[in-house]
Amino acid sequence: MKAVILVGGEGTRLRPLTVNLPKPMLPVVNRPFLEHVLAYLKDHGITDVILSMGYRSEVIEKHFGDGSDFGIRLRYVVEASPLGTAGGVKNVAQYVDGTFLVLNGDILTDLDLGAMIDFHRQNGAKATISLTPVEDPTAYGLVETDATGRVRRFIEKPRLEDVTTNFINAGTYVLEPEVLDLIPPATYYMFERGVFPELLSRRDPVYGFRSDCYWIDIGTPAKYLTVQRDILNGRVQHLSRRLAGGRGFRAGKGAAVDPSVTVIGPAILGDRVRIAAGARISGPVVIGDGCVIGPGTTIEEAILWSGVKIGARVKLSGSILGRDVVVDDDAIVTGGAVIADGCSIGSENRLDQAIRIWPGRSIPPRTITF
Ligand code: GDD
Ligand code: MG
Repeated sequence: MKAVILVGGEGTRLRPLTVNLPKPMLPVVNRPFLEHVLAYLKDHGITDVILSMGYRSEVIEKHFGDGSDFGIRLRYVVEASPLGTAGGVKNVAQYVDGTFLVLNGDILTDLDLGAMIDFHRQNGAKATISLTPVEDPTAYGLVETDATGRVRRFIEKPRLEDVTTNFINAGTYVLEPEVLDLIPPATYYMFERGVFPELLSRRDPVYGFRSDCYWIDIGTPAKYLTVQRDILNGRVQHLSRRLAGGRGFRAGKGAAVDPSVTVIGPAILGDRVRIAAGARISGPVVIGDGCVIGPGTTIEEAILWSGVKIGARVKLSGSILGRDVVVDDDAIVTGGAVIADGCSIGSENRLDQAIRIWPGRSIPPRTITF
């Protein structure tokens, strides 16, 4: 069975991390996120994948090529302007045949695809939508079903007063090819606001496949931190098996960690990471390839992309640092700061709010003190 992955979004809520990289290329435990999605599909026997792309597609294509390095046959279709989730699938229709899968490209899940496909077939459904429970459905697509799983209502980003269930669209669909006939060509169109409501008003069989396995949409900085904490804590089965290995600490090739450094796992250090005397790493922490951490620095619950340089006695926690960021001596970066590629934070600055700093900015010593 073929799968279409939607990766054309601009990742607006993740800015400034998505200024240089599209969302699927953001590193998650030091690998581009989309690698994890492809590995998941491969685990489920899906090796024929079409990427429906827009924003910064060239970065994705350059990394994955024809997919053979990842054991997948990959094809790319790029939109000149955004066509929406359904328009983006219509746009790749020439590559689709028979029953097929559609995946939102920003989801990490342990969903059992085989079981979902069986459920779809048993019900003779036209479309089956994966469902997951969440605390606040207003940020998602609310899906109301009857006792047999047949979908009664689909409300994208419902108002609080419309919330009748905590099950939402988990962003994986099994579709019959006829569904493509409901999507206008070369037009912005969404499954969530167009196709699904239309199928329901025609009384076509649409089913919801409930699952309470691990599920997250990595669409905000907070969730981008959460997903990595979850992986490091062993909560994502398919990934923990392959990569993080539970609650441990692992260092890449050529990493040099001074014996006096305290590491409280879980933590992943990339290749050639250097950590100087007296530093303290308190997981969950992910440190990218080639990062250098100065003496006496403490890092707690943080994500560092590759090439980051941190000086001496820095305090870093709850934050995300992009590629080649520099943080000088005695700076404090806490409280959900997001600092994009190539920024430099001068010594003795104190950033303790969820501040977002755009790529390439440089903050002189002792300028920010909140
Ligand atoms: N090709 C293409 N073209 N892809 C797009 C476009 C587009 O114009 N717009 C968005 N996408 C891709 C995004 O890259 C993402 O992978 C996926 O479609 C979903 O878009 P988001 O922008 O992340 O949507 P959302 O998170 O607000 O809501 C969607 O996902 C929720 C689950 O996380 C909806 O499907 C909700 O119903 C659902 O609950
Ligand atoms: Mg999303």
